[in-house]
Amino acid sequence: MQNPEHIAQDAAAAFAATNDPDALEQIKARYLGKSGQITELLKGMNRFSPEEKKLAGAAINRAKAVIEAALAARREALRQQALEARLAEESLDVTLPGRGEIRGGPHPVTRTLERIEALFRSIGFEVADGPEIEADFQNFTALNMPEDHPARSMHDTFFLLDENGKPARDILLRTHTSPIQVRYMQAHVARYVHLDAMPEIRIIAPGRVYRVDSDATHSPMFHQVEGLWIGEDVSFADLKGVLADFLRRFFENEDLEVRFRPSFFPFTEPSAEIDAAFMSGALKGRWLEIAGCGMVHPNVLRHVGIDPERYLGFAFGMGPDRLTMLRYGINDLRLFFDGDLRFLRQFV
Ligand code: PHE
Repeated sequence: MQNPEHIAQDAAAAFAATNDPDALEQIKARYLGKSGQITELLKGMNRFSPEEKKLAGAAINRAKAVIEAALAARREALRQQALEARLAEESLDVTLPGRGEIRGGPHPVTRTLERIEALFRSIGFEVADGPEIEADFQNFTALNMPEDHPARSMHDTFFLLDENGKPARDILLRTHTSPIQVRYMQAHVARYVHLDAMPEIRIIAPGRVYRVDSDATHSPMFHQVEGLWIGEDVSFADLKGVLADFLRRFFENEDLEVRFRPSFFPFTEPSAEIDAAFMSGALKGRWLEIAGCGMVHPNVLRHVGIDPERYLGFAFGMGPDRLTMLRYGINDLRLFFDGDLRFLRQFV
């Protein structure tokens, strides 16, 4: 029989010679595994007499215990080594400069929208909303633009595709926020059918709108804020007062001139374009188009089930992107939508 003590010495030397935990387990198998040297010795014992068995068995078991102890010690040493290596590698260098804090903030157009909402809320307007994927009826027909109306060509519309990949003529990306007027009035009428007199409607509706158009002052996606005031006694004078007052408060400038230029929209009559000019500063005396507006056309009221003989009011639609450009002196609309942090950081 091979000397168990020598085997144990061999094993201890082999354990000590490896630094790799996986290799260590392989080496262990050479001694203690199913056909390892110690296991083979034990198997060979049936050839021995009972006396011999006793002696040999004791020697083999002693060797086995020595090997197991050496293995456990080596495992622990390697574990410790690995831990120390990892600690050294991951050590924290407290002298490195910190990453710093990056401060974000609302987008300049979002700031404008929030400002517009706050100003209109302060005079009793509610904020309304509507879908960006709109139906032909709300976007055009109800706004007094029937199928063949020439005014439809003013809107270069993005139509959605139907299941055959053809433009679905009745589903589109809204070209303005005016369909929100329609939806709001429809819901309002339904809600108050049982009343003799419907409560006044006073809303603004900010949102994204879409048109096939792209240059320094036009983007295929831009923002509008719709306004609508419907009641029994709302006049063009109210429209002028509300908007002129809003613009002076928005620009924090009493020195702002506002003018109403006759214009045309199918859904208002009479209609006007609102221009504003600063009477001082870099833009002094330059008239800038801010919004379209007018008295809501009787046909629009009829389309949503409101009696135009009894109720009337005004609507307007303004461009908050423009207002933002004016307020901050920005000359290219596309900067708002490029997502360039060098531009956006200036507004934090
Ligand atoms: N919807 C019009 C446009 O997009 C603006 C507008 C709104 C004009 C309401 C009058 C009244 O050009």
